[in-house]
Amino acid sequence: MSDLQSTPRKILITSALPYANGPIHLGHLVEYIQTDIWSRFQKMRGHQCTYVCADDAHGTPIMLRAQAEGITPEELIAKSSEEHQADFAGFNIQFDHYHSTNSPENKYFAEYIYNQLNAKGYISRKTITQSYDPEKEMFLPDRFVKGTCPKCKAEDQYGDNCEVCGATYSPTDLINPKSAVSGATPIEKETDHLFFELGQFEDMLKEWTRAGHLQPQIANKLDEWLETGLRGWDISRDAPYFGFEIPGEKDKFFYVWLDAPIGYMSSFKAYCDKSGLDFDEYWKEGSKAELYHFIGKDIINFHALFWPAMLSGAGFRTPDAVYAHGFLTVDGQKMSKSRGTFIMAKTYLEHLNPEYLRYYYAAKLSGRIDDIDLNLEDFAQRVNSDLVGKVVNIASRCAGFVVKKFDGKLATSWSADAEALYQSFADKSEDIANLYEQREYGHAMREIMTLADKANEYIAETAPWVLAKEEGKEAELLESVSVGINLFRVLMSYLAPVIPETADKSKAFLNLEAWNWNDVKQPLMGHEITKFKALLTRLEMLAIEKMVEASADSLSGASSVPDGKKGDKKPKKDAAKRAESNQPAELEPIAEEITIDDFVKIDLRIAKIVNAEAVPEAKKLLKLTLDIGLEQRQVFAGIKSAYEPEDLIGKLTVMVANLAPRKMRFGMSEGMVLAAGPGGSDLYILSPDDGAIPGQRVK
Ligand code: MSP
Ligand code: ZN
Repeated sequence: MSDLQSTPRKILITSALPYANGPIHLGHLVEYIQTDIWSRFQKMRGHQCTYVCADDAHGTPIMLRAQAEGITPEELIAKSSEEHQADFAGFNIQFDHYHSTNSPENKYFAEYIYNQLNAKGYISRKTITQSYDPEKEMFLPDRFVKGTCPKCKAEDQYGDNCEVCGATYSPTDLINPKSAVSGATPIEKETDHLFFELGQFEDMLKEWTRAGHLQPQIANKLDEWLETGLRGWDISRDAPYFGFEIPGEKDKFFYVWLDAPIGYMSSFKAYCDKSGLDFDEYWKEGSKAELYHFIGKDIINFHALFWPAMLSGAGFRTPDAVYAHGFLTVDGQKMSKSRGTFIMAKTYLEHLNPEYLRYYYAAKLSGRIDDIDLNLEDFAQRVNSDLVGKVVNIASRCAGFVVKKFDGKLATSWSADAEALYQSFADKSEDIANLYEQREYGHAMREIMTLADKANEYIAETAPWVLAKEEGKEAELLESVSVGINLFRVLMSYLAPVIPETADKSKAFLNLEAWNWNDVKQPLMGHEITKFKALLTRLEMLAIEKMVEASADSLSGASSVPDGKKGDKKPKKDAAKRAESNQPAELEPIAEEITIDDFVKIDLRIAKIVNAEAVPEAKKLLKLTLDIGLEQRQVFAGIKSAYEPEDLIGKLTVMVANLAPRKMRFGMSEGMVLAAGPGGSDLYILSPDDGAIPGQRVK
């Protein structure tokens, strides 16, 4: 593959565009980290690689979300865009350009592609009946109709499928359907929709999906679809809708999934305008530039069927490959808000270094679409043993000697053994490059760690700390530490796409200009390095626990207390004192109205606190044992800064008794106690008057 390096390739890569109505979480990051590693790798190899992305800003959920927040959709998406970009920057995701699908470029290309498809007879019109909210005066997407499952009678199911029994149906099949927007009973209404006639692309797609552009598992899956025949794809939505109006139509808009992938083009176009790259060179039919889309396995149809058909129908090139990855699980389970494993990018960054997660995901990723698991204990262990213990350690063990004993200068020559060892490291360069190229990052990390083990063996054998104490061993010492530093440099070069921040710090300490893939062919001889600075510290399990706690906290009730001020030495709860100071409180607005039916679902019980103790590892939690007559419950409550445990014992309070138990790091929490206040020490548990009987239901 050496010609791969001599001729720079022109490569355009994308990650899927995140929806503008939600924050970035660790699941999303599988994809952005996977793509960013690939992009950085290609750039290190000297290729002309461009990585673009954008926010996916259109659609009903975004329109309704903005209404609920009392802002315009434009305001909502501007806010999201800022937050998303801050999160990505926090994880060292380096886009060349980040755009929005609600942009002039995207409007231009959406209209252009539609007009092309229309002119060529690929667009048809059909009358359909759809659920309609008569109060809100809008057509309802399936997900916005809720009702009782026609099959298993489970209540409160979405209009497209039942989460209890798995049945699929249309919203009209639901028993007692209700609009999720207004609560009104939807009616059926006729309307004209536009369809992209996918059937006309059947031959093209049968060929394309089998021509090596897709992972084998995906090509097989798509075969099933292609066998049953392709129906037209509904690409229009009626007003009100947040999106682009369809040219030549009245009150009709492009369905969000039509203009979303076009966002890849528009983002690149905006980048061309600022960088001078040639748009056509990348997108014209017959283009020699390479185009790759990284996506999750949930959005394969859009990228491997609809998108290539749209492109080819409109006279553009099709992608060289669509690379799908699997979904993230945490500790073997779906991310869960109640378990605190639905972790936002922002929350992670408040507790942990992004390089840890980048490395761990890399160690877990392959070119296949299997799900990947973030096992929190394994995460800490792996990062500490590999990155800190094996890699960074080499530099910290050798650098001191180089600087103190040899003025920072590495050896100008070394023994044949040293040369052979160095060569064995440099010789791995192409193998490791191929693994990156194939997205076999896990395999690449294993190769690199095998080398790291060898480097550590070398240092253990030559024992520079022993040589340093002996007379007349300067030459040997210099060779040992110079080899060590050189091996470290090779390892860091191989790891640079994965841990760019650490690589940058190492670059400064090694006094290098840049990380180019081929530089390691030449060892650093007679080169001057600077003083070693800490590159990466150990990952502390406690930080993970705090992150999990914060993730659960921010999303569930009474334990949702912001941190008390650090080093807050104020006495804990002293209600009388607080009442005296009589500070105006900042009150939350009243929440969305609920019905009596919603209310009676919550089983509130009088509870007697029979025991209370601090959880030493958790800054906010007390472990409470609650007697509710029929049984005792263990509940972790985020009230440590407000109460001394012993003051609580014997008190009566109110608990939610039918809340699904959740597993916390310290044990199960089997309910929640009710408390009020902004948090920290300023928090008050609800206490019924004496005489209330534990176990009585609160109504
Ligand atoms: N807006 C669409 C994509 C349009 S692309 C033209 C969308 N957005 S998303 O925000 O829901 O997801 C963005 C990407 O993140 C998708 O590729 C999706 O598969 C990926 N992931 C979202 N949650 C994920 C996990 N829990 N695990 C792994 N990837 C996940 O889909
Ligand atoms: Zn059901």
